This record gives sequence, structure tokens and C-alpha cells, in this order.
Amino acid sequence: MIKILKNLEEVDLEAARILAKQLILKPNSAVALPTGLTPLKMYEAFANFARSKIVELKDVHFFNLDEYIGLTKSDSSSYAYYMRANLFSKIAKVDHRIPKTNTLDPEKEALDYEKAIRSAGGFDLCFLGIGVDGHIGFNEPGTSFSSVTHVANLHSSTIERNTKQIGKSIPRKAITVGIKTIMNSRRIVLMAVGIEKAKVISQALLDDITPELPASVLQLHPNLTILLDEESAQKINSSANEFHLINP
Ligand code: F6R
Repeated sequence: MIKILKNLEEVDLEAARILAKQLILKPNSAVALPTGLTPLKMYEAFANFARSKIVELKDVHFFNLDEYIGLTKSDSSSYAYYMRANLFSKIAKVDHRIPKTNTLDPEKEALDYEKAIRSAGGFDLCFLGIGVDGHIGFNEPGTSFSSVTHVANLHSSTIERNTKQIGKSIPRKAITVGIKTIMNSRRIVLMAVGIEKAKVISQALLDDITPELPASVLQLHPNLTILLDEESAQKINSSANEFHLINP
């Protein structure tokens, strides 16, 4: 199902509502969370829901999708820092995991992380952003669709964009949840906003499914919700009639 909303605020509010509903229906859900610019307002809205007791968080299991290798939790470029600043400092203490990448053995951490996801029963709900190169999590072009949590080399376009975003240089590697792990989620919500995502959204949803565009694998997921703003939906609007996923 595709929902085209007006702007980033509406996309993020809808995502926060989906998360709240999930936790009302299944309080002990395992939920995968992205970082980046797209979900910032989702976390703001969700923190408000939590503060006003719309949702209880004592049984939830949150997992982040990825983390840069070599950063400590207190490094302001780390996703652990991002999550604390944008969500976890604003709500009661919850069960939350993010890959621990300040280690000499990131491969082992990746294995342990995958095991922890499995022990939680896999993701009930997985939120995703999308890179301009089609990455989901940090599964860059060429990543096998059968990948589980692993150490990934970041694509040059990802390094360039994220460096600009943070204003300082970032590591070249990350631990990311794999594509198979994502596809095993019972429900996936893909979010995209802004004109810079229009091309990749149209490629991911309308073109051939290929590891060269990792997000294209989502066409095969049986329970996919896509939340777009008007700008990121610009190139699929014109082909809406041929698009089997769009709501009539
Ligand atoms: C980050 C992540 C990435 C981002 C993607 C979009 O945890 O998994 O896949 O979701 O790079 O980033 P923004 O939202 O900044 O455009």
C-alpha cells in the first residue's frame, strides 16, 4: 500500500501512528528503527505519544538497523547518539539494541546482533528510509538478498551525503541488519521525503527487482506500507495506474 502525504511532517506523523498502533496491539513487538533526516519528526511525535501514555513501552524491543564502525556511543556522529538525542532521552527507559561497533571484532558483533533479533522472534515491524543509491539499512548496491546482519562497506554516494549531513567525516564501514533479516519482518514501512528521493523511489517500486537497487526487493514483501510526501512521489504519480501497489 502506498500513501502519498503532503509533506515530511505528515509522513512522520503517520509512521508514529503506525508504531503506536503496533504497540497497542502487541506491546512486546520487536521493532526495527532507522536514523537519518527522514524519521526525525516520527521520533518527536512518538515520544509525545509515549509521554501522554497512548502507548506503554515496558515490553517493546527496539533494534536499530545500523551503526557506523568504530564510534563510541558518545560520539555525536554515531547512531547511538542520534537515537538518544531524538528519542530515548525523551521517553522512559526501554529495551533497545544498536550494533556495538567500537570493538575489535565487528563480524562477531554482527553475528550476535542477528542472534538477538532472532531471539526476539524477528521484527514485527521494520521502518526503513531509503538512500539515493537505493540502500535500505546500509545494504548498499550489490548486497545479496540473502544477507543477514553483516559488516558493510559504505557506497561513495552514502559517505558523501552523510558527511555533508553531519558536517564531519564518517567511517567507511558499518554494521547493518541484512536484507533477508529485513524481508523476514512481518510488516515493513518504507518512508521517503523530498525531491532527491523521487528517482530512486520510482526505480525501487517500478523497475526490475535487482540487488543493484537493494530497495527493489521490497516489491516482493507481502505486507509493505510506503509513506511518501508529494515530492518523493513525483515520478510515480504519473505511472500510478500501472502501479499494482497503489491504493485505488
Ligand atoms: C539509517 C539508514 C539509512 C537511511 C537512508 C535515508 O539508519 O538505515 O538507510 O534510512 O540513508 O537517510 P535520510 O533519511 O537521511 O535520507
